[in-house]
Amino acid sequence: MYKPVRWPMLSLLLCAALAGSALNAAQPTLIPVPPPPMGWSSWNAFSNTINSEITLAQAKAMATNGMQRAGYQYINIDEGWWLGARDKDGNIIVDPNAWPAIAAGERAGDMANIVRSIHSLGLKAGIYTDAGRDGCSTVGPDLGPSYPNTGSEGHYEQDFLQFARWGFDYVKVDWCGGDKENLDPAIQYAEIARAIAHAEAATGHRLYYSICNWGKHSPFTWAPNVGGVAADIWRTGGDIVAPIVANSKNADRKAEFKEVLREFDQAQHPQAQHTGYYNDPDMMVVGMPGLTEQQNRAHMSLWAISGGPLLVGADLTGLSATDLATLTNSEVLRIDQDSLGLQSVLAAEPAPGLQVWSKPLSKTGERAALLLNRTAAAASITVHWSDLDLRDDSSAEVRDVWAGSDRGKFPGSYTATVPAGDLILLLIRGSESPTTTHRPEVQRTGELAFANVLSRFPVARVDIQYVNSGKTLRFAELRVNGQVATKIAFPPTGSGAAPGTVSLEVMMDSSSGKNQLTFALPVGSRTAIQSIAVH
Ligand code: GLA
Repeated sequence: MYKPVRWPMLSLLLCAALAGSALNAAQPTLIPVPPPPMGWSSWNAFSNTINSEITLAQAKAMATNGMQRAGYQYINIDEGWWLGARDKDGNIIVDPNAWPAIAAGERAGDMANIVRSIHSLGLKAGIYTDAGRDGCSTVGPDLGPSYPNTGSEGHYEQDFLQFARWGFDYVKVDWCGGDKENLDPAIQYAEIARAIAHAEAATGHRLYYSICNWGKHSPFTWAPNVGGVAADIWRTGGDIVAPIVANSKNADRKAEFKEVLREFDQAQHPQAQHTGYYNDPDMMVVGMPGLTEQQNRAHMSLWAISGGPLLVGADLTGLSATDLATLTNSEVLRIDQDSLGLQSVLAAEPAPGLQVWSKPLSKTGERAALLLNRTAAAASITVHWSDLDLRDDSSAEVRDVWAGSDRGKFPGSYTATVPAGDLILLLIRGSESPTTTHRPEVQRTGELAFANVLSRFPVARVDIQYVNSGKTLRFAELRVNGQVATKIAFPPTGSGAAPGTVSLEVMMDSSSGKNQLTFALPVGSRTAIQSIAVH
Protein backbone atom coordinates (compact mmCIF):
# COMPACT_ATOMS: atom_id res chain seq x y z
CA MET A 1 0.00 0.00 0.00
CA TYR A 2 1.54 3.29 -0.93
CA LYS A 3 0.73 6.89 -1.46
CA PRO A 4 2.46 8.48 -4.40
CA VAL A 5 4.37 11.61 -3.58
CA ARG A 6 3.63 14.56 -5.84
CA TRP A 7 6.95 15.74 -7.15
CA PRO A 8 7.52 19.37 -7.88
CA MET A 9 8.56 20.38 -11.39
CA LEU A 10 12.15 20.86 -10.23
CA SER A 11 12.45 17.16 -9.53
CA LEU A 12 11.17 16.28 -12.97
CA LEU A 13 13.76 18.54 -14.55
CA LEU A 14 16.48 17.11 -12.32
CA CYS A 15 15.39 13.64 -13.29
CA ALA A 16 15.59 14.48 -17.00
CA ALA A 17 19.03 16.00 -16.50
CA LEU A 18 20.26 12.93 -14.59
CA ALA A 19 19.20 10.66 -17.40
CA GLY A 20 20.57 13.01 -20.05
CA SER A 21 17.37 12.45 -21.96
CA ALA A 22 14.53 14.11 -23.78
CA LEU A 23 11.00 14.38 -22.40
CA ASN A 24 8.02 13.37 -24.49
CA ALA A 25 9.88 11.30 -27.09
CA ALA A 26 7.81 10.03 -30.05
CA GLN A 27 5.99 6.83 -29.20
CA PRO A 28 7.00 3.58 -30.95
CA THR A 29 4.36 0.88 -31.65
CA LEU A 30 2.97 -0.85 -28.63
CA ILE A 31 3.30 -4.62 -29.05
CA PRO A 32 0.24 -6.44 -27.66
CA VAL A 33 0.93 -9.23 -25.15
CA PRO A 34 -1.31 -12.29 -24.66
CA PRO A 35 -4.31 -11.37 -22.48
CA PRO A 36 -5.32 -13.34 -19.36
CA PRO A 37 -7.37 -16.47 -20.14
CA MET A 38 -11.17 -16.46 -20.13
CA GLY A 39 -13.14 -19.63 -19.58
CA TRP A 40 -14.90 -21.98 -17.19
CA SER A 41 -13.61 -24.41 -14.58
CA SER A 42 -15.51 -27.38 -13.18
CA TRP A 43 -14.42 -27.29 -9.54
CA ASN A 44 -16.62 -24.66 -7.89
CA ALA A 45 -19.96 -26.00 -9.11
CA PHE A 46 -19.26 -29.72 -9.61
CA SER A 47 -16.40 -30.68 -7.29
CA ASN A 48 -15.21 -34.20 -8.08
CA THR A 49 -18.51 -35.23 -9.73
CA ILE A 50 -17.15 -33.94 -13.06
CA ASN A 51 -17.67 -36.22 -16.08
CA SER A 52 -18.11 -36.09 -19.84
CA GLU A 53 -21.83 -35.29 -19.79
CA ILE A 54 -21.43 -32.31 -17.44
CA THR A 55 -18.39 -31.03 -19.36
CA LEU A 56 -20.18 -31.20 -22.68
CA ALA A 57 -23.28 -29.43 -21.31
CA GLN A 58 -21.04 -26.61 -20.03
CA ALA A 59 -19.25 -26.31 -23.37
CA LYS A 60 -22.56 -26.15 -25.23
CA ALA A 61 -23.84 -23.52 -22.81
CA MET A 62 -20.71 -21.37 -23.34
CA ALA A 63 -21.08 -21.71 -27.10
CA THR A 64 -24.71 -20.59 -27.10
CA ASN A 65 -25.26 -18.18 -24.18
CA GLY A 66 -23.13 -15.32 -25.50
CA MET A 67 -20.02 -16.12 -23.44
CA GLN A 68 -18.01 -17.52 -26.35
CA ARG A 69 -18.93 -14.48 -28.44
CA ALA A 70 -17.71 -12.27 -25.58
CA GLY A 71 -14.30 -14.02 -25.58
CA TYR A 72 -14.60 -16.94 -23.14
CA GLN A 73 -12.90 -19.99 -24.62
CA TYR A 74 -11.52 -22.51 -22.11
CA ILE A 75 -13.54 -25.43 -20.74
CA ASN A 76 -11.34 -26.63 -17.88
CA ILE A 77 -11.79 -30.01 -16.24
CA ASP A 78 -10.62 -29.80 -12.61
CA GLU A 79 -10.10 -32.47 -9.94
CA GLY A 80 -12.20 -35.64 -10.08
CA TRP A 81 -11.71 -36.61 -13.72
CA TRP A 82 -9.15 -39.30 -12.82
CA LEU A 83 -9.22 -41.61 -9.81
CA GLY A 84 -5.52 -42.44 -9.76
CA ALA A 85 -5.30 -45.65 -11.83
CA ARG A 86 -2.39 -46.31 -14.20
CA ASP A 87 -1.60 -49.26 -16.45
CA LYS A 88 1.59 -51.33 -16.12
CA ASP A 89 3.49 -48.77 -18.18
CA GLY A 90 2.35 -45.91 -15.98
CA ASN A 91 -0.21 -44.50 -18.44
CA ILE A 92 -3.25 -42.82 -16.90
CA ILE A 93 -6.45 -44.91 -16.99
CA VAL A 94 -9.80 -43.13 -16.65
CA ASP A 95 -13.26 -44.53 -15.91
CA PRO A 96 -14.86 -45.39 -19.29
CA ASN A 97 -18.32 -44.75 -17.84
CA ALA A 98 -17.44 -41.21 -16.81
CA TRP A 99 -15.63 -40.56 -20.12
CA PRO A 100 -17.47 -42.64 -22.75
CA ALA A 101 -17.32 -42.44 -26.55
CA ILE A 102 -19.17 -39.34 -27.74
CA ALA A 103 -18.95 -39.66 -31.52
CA ALA A 104 -18.93 -42.71 -33.76
CA GLY A 105 -15.61 -44.55 -33.86
CA GLU A 106 -14.42 -43.33 -30.47
CA ARG A 107 -13.21 -45.61 -27.68
CA ALA A 108 -14.67 -45.23 -24.17
CA GLY A 109 -12.10 -44.15 -21.58
CA ASP A 110 -10.19 -41.91 -23.99
CA MET A 111 -9.94 -38.27 -22.88
CA ALA A 112 -9.37 -37.27 -26.52
CA ASN A 113 -13.14 -37.75 -27.01
CA ILE A 114 -14.17 -34.84 -24.81
CA VAL A 115 -11.37 -32.68 -26.21
CA ARG A 116 -12.63 -33.28 -29.77
CA SER A 117 -16.17 -32.34 -28.74
CA ILE A 118 -14.98 -29.15 -27.02
CA HIS A 119 -12.84 -28.23 -30.02
CA SER A 120 -15.73 -28.88 -32.41
CA LEU A 121 -17.56 -26.00 -30.70
CA GLY A 122 -14.61 -23.70 -31.36
CA LEU A 123 -13.56 -23.82 -27.69
CA LYS A 124 -10.36 -24.94 -25.96
CA ALA A 125 -9.97 -27.72 -23.39
CA GLY A 126 -8.19 -27.72 -20.03
CA ILE A 127 -7.11 -30.56 -17.74
CA TYR A 128 -5.81 -30.83 -14.17
CA THR A 129 -3.21 -32.70 -12.15
CA ASP A 130 -1.08 -32.31 -9.02
CA ALA A 131 2.67 -31.74 -8.77
CA GLY A 132 2.91 -34.34 -5.96
CA ARG A 133 2.17 -38.04 -5.80
CA ASP A 134 -1.36 -37.56 -4.48
CA GLY A 135 -4.01 -35.02 -5.41
CA CYS A 136 -6.22 -32.99 -3.13
CA SER A 137 -8.74 -35.72 -2.34
CA THR A 138 -6.32 -37.37 0.09
CA VAL A 139 -5.97 -34.12 2.02
CA GLY A 140 -9.69 -33.74 2.60
CA PRO A 141 -12.08 -35.16 0.02
CA ASP A 142 -14.80 -32.69 -0.79
CA LEU A 143 -17.43 -35.16 -1.99
CA GLY A 144 -17.09 -38.94 -2.20
CA PRO A 145 -14.14 -41.10 -1.13
CA SER A 146 -10.47 -40.24 -0.99
CA TYR A 147 -8.56 -41.43 -4.05
CA PRO A 148 -4.75 -41.48 -3.74
CA ASN A 149 -2.14 -41.35 -6.54
CA THR A 150 -3.89 -38.66 -8.56
CA GLY A 151 -0.73 -36.59 -8.90
CA SER A 152 1.91 -36.62 -11.62
CA GLU A 153 5.07 -36.87 -9.49
CA GLY A 154 7.34 -39.49 -11.06
CA HIS A 155 5.38 -39.19 -14.33
CA TYR A 156 5.85 -35.57 -15.36
CA GLU A 157 7.22 -36.31 -18.85
CA GLN A 158 4.67 -39.05 -19.46
CA ASP A 159 1.58 -37.23 -18.16
CA PHE A 160 2.15 -33.86 -19.82
CA LEU A 161 2.92 -35.60 -23.11
CA GLN A 162 -0.32 -37.52 -22.66
CA PHE A 163 -2.29 -34.30 -22.01
CA ALA A 164 -0.86 -32.76 -25.19
CA ARG A 165 -1.54 -35.95 -27.20
CA TRP A 166 -5.13 -35.99 -25.99
CA GLY A 167 -5.31 -32.50 -27.45
CA PHE A 168 -5.66 -30.45 -24.26
CA ASP A 169 -4.70 -26.80 -24.59
CA TYR A 170 -4.36 -25.90 -20.91
CA VAL A 171 -3.21 -27.64 -17.75
CA LYS A 172 -3.71 -26.58 -14.14
CA VAL A 173 -1.21 -28.11 -11.73
CA ASP A 174 -2.27 -28.24 -8.09
CA TRP A 175 -0.12 -28.56 -4.99
CA CYS A 176 -1.91 -30.76 -2.41
CA GLY A 177 0.44 -33.71 -2.92
CA GLY A 178 3.53 -31.53 -3.22
CA ASP A 179 2.60 -29.72 -0.03
CA LYS A 180 1.99 -32.97 1.85
CA GLU A 181 5.45 -34.23 0.85
CA ASN A 182 7.02 -30.88 1.74
CA LEU A 183 8.45 -30.49 -1.77
CA ASP A 184 9.83 -27.19 -3.00
CA PRO A 185 7.27 -25.70 -5.42
CA ALA A 186 9.83 -23.60 -7.32
CA ILE A 187 11.74 -26.82 -8.12
CA GLN A 188 8.76 -29.05 -8.90
CA TYR A 189 7.01 -26.48 -11.06
CA ALA A 190 10.28 -25.88 -12.95
CA GLU A 191 10.50 -29.62 -13.64
CA ILE A 192 6.93 -29.50 -14.90
CA ALA A 193 7.69 -26.48 -17.09
CA ARG A 194 10.43 -28.56 -18.72
CA ALA A 195 8.06 -31.53 -19.17
CA ILE A 196 5.51 -29.20 -20.77
CA ALA A 197 8.16 -27.75 -23.09
CA HIS A 198 9.11 -31.32 -24.14
CA ALA A 199 5.44 -32.24 -24.69
CA GLU A 200 4.93 -29.11 -26.78
CA ALA A 201 8.03 -29.87 -28.84
CA ALA A 202 6.96 -33.50 -29.37
CA THR A 203 3.38 -32.71 -30.40
CA GLY A 204 3.58 -29.17 -31.78
CA HIS A 205 0.68 -28.47 -29.43
CA ARG A 206 0.72 -25.52 -26.99
CA LEU A 207 -0.16 -26.29 -23.35
CA TYR A 208 -1.08 -23.19 -21.35
CA TYR A 209 0.52 -23.61 -17.91
CA SER A 210 -1.51 -22.70 -14.82
CA ILE A 211 0.20 -23.09 -11.44
CA CYS A 212 -2.05 -23.59 -8.43
CA ASN A 213 -0.12 -23.57 -5.16
CA TRP A 214 -2.24 -20.91 -3.47
CA GLY A 215 0.55 -18.33 -3.19
CA LYS A 216 2.74 -20.57 -0.99
CA HIS A 217 6.46 -19.75 -1.20
CA SER A 218 5.65 -16.57 -3.12
CA PRO A 219 5.11 -17.95 -6.65
CA PHE A 220 5.10 -14.40 -8.01
CA THR A 221 8.87 -14.40 -7.34
CA TRP A 222 9.63 -17.59 -9.30
CA ALA A 223 6.64 -18.49 -11.49
CA PRO A 224 7.42 -15.81 -14.10
CA ASN A 225 10.84 -17.46 -14.46
CA VAL A 226 10.42 -21.17 -13.86
CA GLY A 227 12.32 -23.91 -15.71
CA GLY A 228 13.85 -21.48 -18.17
CA VAL A 229 10.46 -20.16 -19.25
CA ALA A 230 7.51 -18.54 -17.53
CA ALA A 231 4.34 -20.12 -16.25
CA ASP A 232 1.36 -18.45 -17.90
CA ILE A 233 -0.63 -17.86 -14.69
CA TRP A 234 -0.08 -18.66 -11.02
CA ARG A 235 -2.49 -18.65 -8.14
CA THR A 236 -1.70 -16.13 -5.42
CA GLY A 237 -4.05 -17.32 -2.67
CA GLY A 238 -6.54 -19.94 -1.52
CA ASP A 239 -9.99 -20.76 -2.83
CA ILE A 240 -12.67 -18.06 -2.61
CA VAL A 241 -15.18 -20.75 -1.70
CA ALA A 242 -15.34 -24.52 -1.31
CA PRO A 243 -17.46 -26.14 -4.07
CA ILE A 244 -21.21 -25.57 -3.96
CA VAL A 245 -22.70 -28.61 -5.70
CA ALA A 246 -26.46 -28.67 -6.29
CA ASN A 247 -28.31 -31.60 -4.66
CA SER A 248 -25.32 -32.57 -2.52
CA LYS A 249 -24.28 -32.17 1.10
CA ASN A 250 -22.44 -29.03 -0.06
CA ALA A 251 -25.47 -27.37 -1.61
CA ASP A 252 -26.00 -24.88 1.25
CA ARG A 253 -22.54 -23.29 1.13
CA LYS A 254 -22.41 -19.61 0.16
CA ALA A 255 -19.71 -17.48 -1.42
CA GLU A 256 -18.87 -14.29 0.50
CA PHE A 257 -17.71 -10.92 -0.84
CA LYS A 258 -15.09 -10.55 1.90
CA GLU A 259 -13.36 -13.66 0.52
CA VAL A 260 -13.43 -12.11 -2.95
CA LEU A 261 -11.71 -9.01 -1.55
CA ARG A 262 -9.16 -11.17 0.30
CA GLU A 263 -8.15 -12.96 -2.89
CA PHE A 264 -8.01 -9.66 -4.80
CA ASP A 265 -5.61 -8.28 -2.17
CA GLN A 266 -3.42 -11.38 -2.21
CA ALA A 267 -3.11 -11.20 -5.99
CA GLN A 268 -1.49 -7.75 -6.05
CA HIS A 269 2.04 -8.31 -7.32
CA PRO A 270 2.20 -5.88 -10.24
CA GLN A 271 5.95 -6.34 -10.62
CA ALA A 272 5.39 -9.99 -11.61
CA GLN A 273 2.51 -9.46 -14.02
CA HIS A 274 3.80 -8.43 -17.40
CA THR A 275 4.34 -9.45 -21.02
CA GLY A 276 1.54 -12.03 -20.93
CA TYR A 277 2.01 -13.68 -17.50
CA TYR A 278 -0.59 -13.18 -14.82
CA ASN A 279 -1.28 -13.36 -11.10
CA ASP A 280 -4.36 -15.57 -10.66
CA PRO A 281 -6.72 -14.57 -7.82
CA ASP A 282 -8.82 -17.82 -8.29
CA MET A 283 -11.88 -18.86 -10.29
CA MET A 284 -14.72 -16.38 -10.03
CA VAL A 285 -17.90 -17.00 -8.05
CA VAL A 286 -20.18 -14.82 -10.18
CA GLY A 287 -23.40 -16.80 -10.69
CA MET A 288 -22.91 -18.98 -7.61
CA PRO A 289 -24.99 -18.68 -4.43
CA GLY A 290 -23.89 -15.99 -1.99
CA LEU A 291 -23.17 -12.66 -3.68
CA THR A 292 -25.74 -10.02 -4.58
CA GLU A 293 -25.97 -8.83 -8.18
CA GLN A 294 -24.06 -5.68 -7.26
CA GLN A 295 -21.39 -7.74 -5.46
CA ASN A 296 -21.06 -9.85 -8.60
CA ARG A 297 -20.40 -6.68 -10.60
CA ALA A 298 -17.91 -5.53 -7.95
CA HIS A 299 -16.17 -8.95 -8.10
CA MET A 300 -15.95 -8.70 -11.89
CA SER A 301 -14.57 -5.13 -11.58
CA LEU A 302 -11.86 -6.27 -9.15
CA TRP A 303 -10.76 -9.09 -11.48
CA ALA A 304 -10.89 -6.80 -14.52
CA ILE A 305 -8.79 -4.00 -13.01
CA SER A 306 -6.37 -6.62 -11.74
CA GLY A 307 -6.10 -8.10 -15.24
CA GLY A 308 -6.90 -11.45 -13.64
CA PRO A 309 -7.81 -14.65 -15.48
CA LEU A 310 -11.61 -14.76 -15.90
CA LEU A 311 -12.43 -18.38 -15.13
CA VAL A 312 -16.07 -18.77 -14.24
CA GLY A 313 -16.82 -21.38 -11.58
CA ALA A 314 -20.63 -21.36 -11.80
CA ASP A 315 -22.84 -23.89 -13.62
CA LEU A 316 -23.11 -22.21 -17.03
CA THR A 317 -26.39 -23.96 -17.81
CA GLY A 318 -28.13 -22.12 -14.96
CA LEU A 319 -26.87 -18.54 -15.28
CA SER A 320 -29.46 -15.77 -14.93
CA ALA A 321 -29.70 -13.05 -17.56
CA THR A 322 -28.17 -10.61 -15.04
CA ASP A 323 -25.21 -12.92 -14.32
CA LEU A 324 -24.63 -13.33 -18.04
CA ALA A 325 -24.77 -9.58 -18.55
CA THR A 326 -22.21 -9.16 -15.74
CA LEU A 327 -19.88 -11.77 -17.21
CA THR A 328 -20.08 -10.47 -20.77
CA ASN A 329 -20.03 -6.68 -20.30
CA SER A 330 -17.75 -5.70 -23.16
CA GLU A 331 -16.32 -2.57 -21.53
CA VAL A 332 -15.34 -4.49 -18.41
CA LEU A 333 -13.83 -7.31 -20.47
CA ARG A 334 -11.85 -4.76 -22.49
CA ILE A 335 -10.26 -3.51 -19.25
CA ASP A 336 -9.34 -7.04 -18.17
CA GLN A 337 -8.03 -8.07 -21.58
CA ASP A 338 -6.13 -4.88 -22.38
CA SER A 339 -3.09 -5.63 -24.53
CA LEU A 340 -0.67 -3.82 -22.20
CA GLY A 341 -1.24 -6.74 -19.79
CA LEU A 342 -0.52 -4.76 -16.62
CA GLN A 343 -2.05 -5.12 -13.17
CA SER A 344 -3.77 -2.53 -11.05
CA VAL A 345 -1.77 -0.55 -8.50
CA LEU A 346 -3.08 1.16 -5.41
CA ALA A 347 -2.83 4.77 -6.58
CA ALA A 348 -4.08 6.47 -3.43
CA GLU A 349 -5.75 5.76 -0.09
CA PRO A 350 -7.14 9.15 0.94
CA ALA A 351 -8.53 7.69 4.19
CA PRO A 352 -8.32 4.22 5.74
CA GLY A 353 -10.48 1.87 3.67
CA LEU A 354 -11.11 4.40 0.90
CA GLN A 355 -8.95 3.41 -2.05
CA VAL A 356 -8.23 4.42 -5.62
CA TRP A 357 -6.85 1.64 -7.82
CA SER A 358 -5.45 2.34 -11.26
CA LYS A 359 -4.70 0.17 -14.29
CA PRO A 360 -2.83 1.66 -17.26
CA LEU A 361 -4.49 0.76 -20.56
CA SER A 362 -2.92 0.51 -23.98
CA LYS A 363 -4.62 3.56 -25.45
CA THR A 364 -2.59 6.71 -24.76
CA GLY A 365 -4.00 8.63 -21.80
CA GLU A 366 -6.48 5.91 -20.86
CA ARG A 367 -6.76 4.39 -17.37
CA ALA A 368 -9.22 2.13 -15.62
CA ALA A 369 -9.79 3.44 -12.10
CA LEU A 370 -11.61 1.81 -9.23
CA LEU A 371 -13.02 3.79 -6.31
CA LEU A 372 -13.27 1.18 -3.56
CA ASN A 373 -15.02 1.81 -0.28
CA ARG A 374 -14.10 -0.90 2.22
CA THR A 375 -15.75 0.90 5.12
CA ALA A 376 -19.22 0.38 6.61
CA ALA A 377 -20.55 3.80 5.58
CA ALA A 378 -21.07 5.50 2.23
CA ALA A 379 -18.19 7.87 1.47
CA SER A 380 -17.04 10.20 -1.23
CA ILE A 381 -13.76 9.25 -2.90
CA THR A 382 -11.70 11.55 -5.11
CA VAL A 383 -9.41 10.34 -7.85
CA HIS A 384 -6.70 12.86 -8.80
CA TRP A 385 -5.36 12.65 -12.34
CA SER A 386 -1.81 12.96 -10.99
CA ASP A 387 -2.33 9.77 -8.91
CA LEU A 388 -3.12 8.00 -12.18
CA ASP A 389 0.07 9.34 -13.77
CA LEU A 390 -2.01 11.71 -15.94
CA ARG A 391 -1.45 15.45 -16.31
CA ASP A 392 -3.49 17.32 -13.73
CA ASP A 393 -3.28 20.61 -15.61
CA SER A 394 -5.63 19.33 -18.31
CA SER A 395 -9.12 17.87 -18.15
CA ALA A 396 -9.95 14.19 -18.43
CA GLU A 397 -13.14 12.49 -19.57
CA VAL A 398 -14.82 10.20 -17.06
CA ARG A 399 -17.06 7.24 -17.89
CA ASP A 400 -18.89 5.11 -15.34
CA VAL A 401 -18.36 1.67 -16.86
CA TRP A 402 -21.24 -0.33 -15.32
CA ALA A 403 -23.69 2.56 -15.74
CA GLY A 404 -22.51 2.77 -19.37
CA SER A 405 -22.62 6.50 -19.03
CA ASP A 406 -20.20 9.39 -19.70
CA ARG A 407 -19.97 11.65 -16.67
CA GLY A 408 -18.28 14.52 -18.50
CA LYS A 409 -14.91 16.28 -18.57
CA PHE A 410 -13.27 17.20 -15.27
CA PRO A 411 -10.20 19.31 -14.48
CA GLY A 412 -7.66 17.68 -12.14
CA SER A 413 -9.85 15.17 -10.36
CA TYR A 414 -13.26 13.48 -10.06
CA THR A 415 -15.25 12.74 -6.92
CA ALA A 416 -18.05 10.21 -6.48
CA THR A 417 -20.01 8.86 -3.55
CA VAL A 418 -19.41 5.14 -3.15
CA PRO A 419 -21.84 3.04 -1.08
CA ALA A 420 -20.48 1.07 1.91
CA GLY A 421 -18.56 -2.05 0.91
CA ASP A 422 -18.93 -1.22 -2.76
CA LEU A 423 -16.99 0.26 -5.64
CA ILE A 424 -17.30 2.30 -8.81
CA LEU A 425 -15.38 1.33 -11.94
CA LEU A 426 -14.36 4.27 -14.11
CA LEU A 427 -12.69 4.72 -17.46
CA ILE A 428 -10.60 7.89 -17.53
CA ARG A 429 -9.31 9.51 -20.72
CA GLY A 430 -6.74 12.19 -20.02
CA SER A 431 -3.29 13.31 -21.10
CA GLU A 432 -0.18 11.30 -20.36
CA SER A 433 2.36 12.85 -18.02
CA PRO A 434 5.84 13.28 -19.47
CA THR A 435 8.12 10.25 -19.26
CA THR A 436 11.88 10.15 -18.94
CA THR A 437 13.84 8.23 -21.54
CA HIS A 438 16.99 6.38 -20.48
CA ARG A 439 19.53 4.70 -22.70
CA PRO A 440 21.72 1.86 -21.43
CA GLU A 441 24.70 3.29 -19.61
CA VAL A 442 26.70 0.13 -19.09
CA GLN A 443 26.93 -2.55 -21.70
CA ARG A 444 28.68 -5.88 -21.21
CA THR A 445 28.15 -9.00 -23.30
CA GLY A 446 24.62 -10.06 -22.64
CA GLU A 447 23.94 -7.37 -20.04
CA LEU A 448 22.41 -3.92 -20.28
CA ALA A 449 22.13 -1.62 -17.32
CA PHE A 450 20.09 1.50 -16.80
CA ALA A 451 21.44 3.42 -13.83
CA ASN A 452 20.22 6.46 -11.92
CA VAL A 453 16.58 5.82 -12.72
CA LEU A 454 14.07 7.99 -10.91
CA SER A 455 10.33 7.67 -10.76
CA ARG A 456 7.89 9.51 -8.53
CA PHE A 457 5.94 6.24 -8.14
CA PRO A 458 7.02 3.35 -5.89
CA VAL A 459 5.48 1.03 -8.49
CA ALA A 460 6.57 2.69 -11.69
CA ARG A 461 5.48 1.92 -15.20
CA VAL A 462 8.43 1.33 -17.51
CA ASP A 463 8.02 1.05 -21.28
CA ILE A 464 10.85 -0.88 -22.92
CA GLN A 465 11.69 0.05 -26.49
CA TYR A 466 13.18 -2.93 -28.32
CA VAL A 467 13.55 -4.74 -31.61
CA ASN A 468 12.97 -8.48 -31.99
CA SER A 469 13.22 -9.16 -35.69
CA GLY A 470 12.86 -12.93 -35.15
CA LYS A 471 9.63 -14.89 -35.50
CA THR A 472 9.36 -16.14 -31.92
CA LEU A 473 9.25 -14.75 -28.40
CA ARG A 474 12.62 -13.78 -26.94
CA PHE A 475 13.31 -13.46 -23.25
CA ALA A 476 15.48 -11.33 -21.00
CA GLU A 477 15.86 -11.33 -17.23
CA LEU A 478 15.31 -8.05 -15.46
CA ARG A 479 16.72 -7.28 -12.05
CA VAL A 480 15.69 -4.07 -10.30
CA ASN A 481 17.95 -2.91 -7.48
CA GLY A 482 19.06 -6.51 -6.94
CA GLN A 483 15.52 -7.78 -6.39
CA VAL A 484 14.69 -11.28 -7.62
CA ALA A 485 14.92 -11.45 -11.42
CA THR A 486 11.76 -11.56 -13.50
CA LYS A 487 11.66 -12.98 -17.00
CA ILE A 488 10.34 -10.64 -19.63
CA ALA A 489 8.98 -11.87 -22.95
CA PHE A 490 9.63 -9.80 -26.05
CA PRO A 491 7.21 -10.65 -28.85
CA PRO A 492 8.42 -10.22 -32.45
CA THR A 493 8.36 -6.60 -33.61
CA GLY A 494 8.28 -7.53 -37.31
CA SER A 495 10.90 -8.03 -39.97
CA GLY A 496 12.01 -4.38 -40.26
CA ALA A 497 14.07 -2.42 -37.79
CA ALA A 498 11.09 -0.48 -36.42
CA PRO A 499 11.04 -0.80 -32.63
CA GLY A 500 8.11 -1.75 -30.44
CA THR A 501 7.39 -1.41 -26.74
CA VAL A 502 6.22 -3.67 -23.96
CA SER A 503 5.43 -2.32 -20.50
CA LEU A 504 6.19 -3.42 -16.97
CA GLU A 505 5.49 -2.17 -13.49
CA VAL A 506 8.63 -2.22 -11.37
CA MET A 507 9.17 -1.57 -7.70
CA MET A 508 11.46 1.39 -7.24
CA ASP A 509 12.73 3.54 -4.46
CA SER A 510 10.80 6.70 -5.29
CA SER A 511 12.84 8.80 -2.87
CA SER A 512 16.13 8.31 -4.71
CA GLY A 513 17.21 8.73 -8.29
CA LYS A 514 19.55 5.79 -7.93
CA ASN A 515 17.44 2.88 -9.09
CA GLN A 516 19.26 0.38 -11.26
CA LEU A 517 17.57 -1.81 -13.87
CA THR A 518 19.71 -4.58 -15.36
CA PHE A 519 18.64 -6.77 -18.27
CA ALA A 520 20.43 -10.06 -18.89
CA LEU A 521 20.02 -11.23 -22.46
CA PRO A 522 20.81 -14.78 -23.56
CA VAL A 523 24.01 -15.18 -25.56
CA GLY A 524 23.34 -14.55 -29.24
CA SER A 525 19.97 -12.97 -28.50
CA ARG A 526 18.46 -11.11 -31.42
CA THR A 527 16.58 -8.80 -29.09
CA ALA A 528 17.97 -5.28 -28.95
CA ILE A 529 16.77 -3.19 -26.03
CA GLN A 530 17.19 0.40 -27.14
CA SER A 531 15.84 2.49 -24.31
CA ILE A 532 13.34 2.61 -21.47
CA ALA A 533 10.75 5.29 -20.81
CA VAL A 534 10.00 5.70 -17.12
CA HIS A 535 6.69 7.11 -15.90
C1 GLA B 1 -7.36 -26.83 -4.68
C2 GLA B 1 -7.46 -25.71 -5.71
C3 GLA B 1 -8.87 -25.63 -6.26
C4 GLA B 1 -9.29 -26.95 -6.85
C5 GLA B 1 -9.17 -28.02 -5.76
C6 GLA B 1 -9.43 -29.41 -6.26
O1 GLA B 1 -8.02 -26.51 -3.53
O2 GLA B 1 -7.11 -24.50 -5.11
O3 GLA B 1 -8.93 -24.62 -7.24
O4 GLA B 1 -8.50 -27.27 -7.95
O5 GLA B 1 -7.86 -28.03 -5.23
O6 GLA B 1 -9.34 -30.29 -5.19
